[in-house]
Amino acid sequence: SEILRVGIAGLGTVGAAVARLLQRQEQALMARTGRRIVVTGVSARDAGKKRDADFSGAEFFHDPVKLATSETIDLFVELIGGSEGPARASVESALAHGKPVVTANKALLAAHGLHLTQLAEEKRVALSFEASVAGGIPIVKTLREGLAGNSIERVYGILNGTCNYILSRMEREQLSFEACLSEAQRLGYAEADPTFDIGGFDTAHKLAILTSLAFGTRISAQSIDIEGIERVTLADIEAADELGFRIKLLGVAQRTAEGIEQRVHPTMVSKNSAIAQVMGVLNAVTIDADAVHELTLVGPGAGGDATASAVVADIADIAKGVRSAPFGLPSSQLAEFKRTPMRRHEGG
Ligand code: NDP
Ligand code: HSE
Repeated sequence: SEILRVGIAGLGTVGAAVARLLQRQEQALMARTGRRIVVTGVSARDAGKKRDADFSGAEFFHDPVKLATSETIDLFVELIGGSEGPARASVESALAHGKPVVTANKALLAAHGLHLTQLAEEKRVALSFEASVAGGIPIVKTLREGLAGNSIERVYGILNGTCNYILSRMEREQLSFEACLSEAQRLGYAEADPTFDIGGFDTAHKLAILTSLAFGTRISAQSIDIEGIERVTLADIEAADELGFRIKLLGVAQRTAEGIEQRVHPTMVSKNSAIAQVMGVLNAVTIDADAVHELTLVGPGAGGDATASAVVADIADIAKGVRSAPFGLPSSQLAEFKRTPMRRHEGG
């Protein structure tokens, strides 16, 4: 069978987990796609660092842009992170050179999603980002393909594994915020700069992607009202508990009479509600739509293996020759996003 030569930039929590999963599922992926998927090139900062996967068969590139444009790869997988710098430069270079791209980088998409989509369209190559929202939950495909027959009213949920992990452990074990955050970092859930997690920015990046997919609008992270969980204390969690509530960091996007509203903030949810049962690193996304009514997907929202599951699904699609419009519509048909001010009194 024809080989698909993959280049991976970023060999940390997600990059190593992707390599392990590709190795473990090599035969099954060959059966499903008709191609042998081989990692032929890799890039990271430190060539000598011990990795959590075997990259000995791949050529090492110090510069991810060189890897992205190398003749030795057919597909570029960006797992570095960050909306600028090497992540942006390498993704843009890969697309400009006509190479399909798979990325888990929601910060990059939130900032440059429209521009990157246009680059991918020009060269008629795939730009895939299933792993960028809610880790292992296949929410991008669900919104883009699975619910194509619906008009969506609202999409909301728990979109950051680190925050849900922190809030859950604070409640269950009365641990301090700082201790829970350190543990989330040790487990590979948190962003390189955890301010993105606890400040609500990562949830906002993911919400911006979901909004574009759900409502056919241009991605607009800058129009999200954001409040994080930094100020949530053990006392707040205990007070909520006594009243029969849990505190969850939610991202909400919904149609209103004035347009689409997007917001991120800690929310009191009844302990009897389905969303309150979502504990630990799990994420949940609920979609209100006209034909399907209500649909909720729950699953691991962060961590190497769960995220690799989504990255490998995108790689398999590209191996099969599937190329969807990144945000479900040709970029020229995505409506401009008009900011709608948040109306706090409505609650979550
Ligand atoms: P890590 O910090 O574990 O890994 C980042 C990797 O990028 C490292 O291997 C690092 O190299 C490499 N890198 C950094 N700068 C450069 C550079 N200039 N050139 C080449 N390589 C570079 O991050 P994660 O694996 O956790 O995250 C990767 C991406 O996946 C991010 O976009 C993140 O937001 C996203 N993501 C992460 C999830 C998770 O649960 N961790 C879940 C969903 C998405 P070196 O090892 O040599 O330092
Ligand atoms: N830091 C992110 C989280 C990784 O905790 O949800 C998954 O996108």
